[in-house]
Amino acid sequence: MPALVLVGAQWGDEGKGKATDLLGGSVDYVVRYQGGNNAGHTVVIGDQKYALHLLPSGILSPNVVPVIGNGVVIDPGVLLSELKGLDERGIDTSKLLISGNAHLITPYHRTLDKVTERFLGKRRIGTTGRGIGPAYADKINRVGIRVQDLFDESILRQKIEAALHDKNQLLVKLYNRRAIPAELVLEEYLGYADKIKPYLADTTLVLDEALKANKVVLLEGGQGTLLDVDHGTYPFVTSSNPTSGGACTGSGIGPTKIDRVIGILKAYTTRVGSGPFPTELLDADGDALRRIGGERGVTTGRDRRCGWFDAVIARYATRVNGLTDFFLTKLDVLTGWEQIPVCVAYEIDGQRVEELPYNQSDFHHAKPIYENLPGWSEDISKAKTFAELPKNAQAYVKALEEMSGAPISAIGVGPGRTETIEINSFL
Ligand code: IMP
Repeated sequence: MPALVLVGAQWGDEGKGKATDLLGGSVDYVVRYQGGNNAGHTVVIGDQKYALHLLPSGILSPNVVPVIGNGVVIDPGVLLSELKGLDERGIDTSKLLISGNAHLITPYHRTLDKVTERFLGKRRIGTTGRGIGPAYADKINRVGIRVQDLFDESILRQKIEAALHDKNQLLVKLYNRRAIPAELVLEEYLGYADKIKPYLADTTLVLDEALKANKVVLLEGGQGTLLDVDHGTYPFVTSSNPTSGGACTGSGIGPTKIDRVIGILKAYTTRVGSGPFPTELLDADGDALRRIGGERGVTTGRDRRCGWFDAVIARYATRVNGLTDFFLTKLDVLTGWEQIPVCVAYEIDGQRVEELPYNQSDFHHAKPIYENLPGWSEDISKAKTFAELPKNAQAYVKALEEMSGAPISAIGVGPGRTETIEINSFL
């Protein structure tokens, strides 16, 4: 069986952890291919809740090999404390593999992330402040530090000194901050080397061999389609490619090896941080979605902005990711509304527009055109099959499927591990 990709179809936080968990038993490798500890997966197992930021959610399944691919940016301090936290709760983390080509987030990336946001003022992106953007900027600028550099003191020293040569000028002269001594960073990062070494692997080779041996490889995207640096609502995006193409570059698996691309789609829409959001609700319905859906960021603790389902976005996600399936999550959150509005198109400058506009200003002006679908009031969290859903919930799912352009193959009806309806198997 070849590789599968899981990607957020909206602005992230669609509930990917749950989808990974559903597949967990049949999957051999779970790979993160981009992003860093800006992500947040919550996985509920029994009465235990796990919040993961950097580690692939497959780390919670005993038979899965979790992999951090070359496309990820790693904050080593966060990595080690997340591993320690899981070890303390009895989770075996020893199978983790980390690409030596993944880039490292350093203290100067975190500082720069925060000061640049502060200087942007009203135009700020609303980043997670974890140093993600500056670390990717260094990668593209070819001055980044990679995991493999930790194991050669002289290279590490040269690279840290070279990077800080410029950055300290910026910090001191432009941002009025204290310089960061290279020696301190060097000492801290050399201290990580021995702890990270056991996990180091040539992950592209490992994954190729796994695929050749007919193992199931799940590539797990962080964030979501509209936060993609190329295909999202730029500049209000993250600095990597969560879309399915990023799964190839961020893991070293070629596109011909990928069999299925599953879009995780929330039954309504949420967004964290700044940027356009046509169906955003600034009223009691928005508050209710936030409250019932528990829409508070796992990583930053920020309240998520909430709104109705947007089919234009779902269609776009189908297009740019080549989605083969959707996993619809949090359908239960919509229980109790008499009517559920769904955005079917936008009105932009008096015109009806069916597809996501590529022009940023047009998207900022987009007004949602809604269709009202009848709601349901029955508790759906115990439903095990599609047929057990109330008729109006079935019709809601079918309508979303028709508008979104790919089959809905699974539905989340509650936060627990088993509160999922499987319609078509992903494997
Ligand atoms: P950064 O990834 O920290 O640079 O933040 C850039 C944008 O992506 C901000 O709007 C963040 O709120 C958003 N973002 C980053 N990670 C996530 C995530 O896991 N879920 C939702 N939004 C995210």
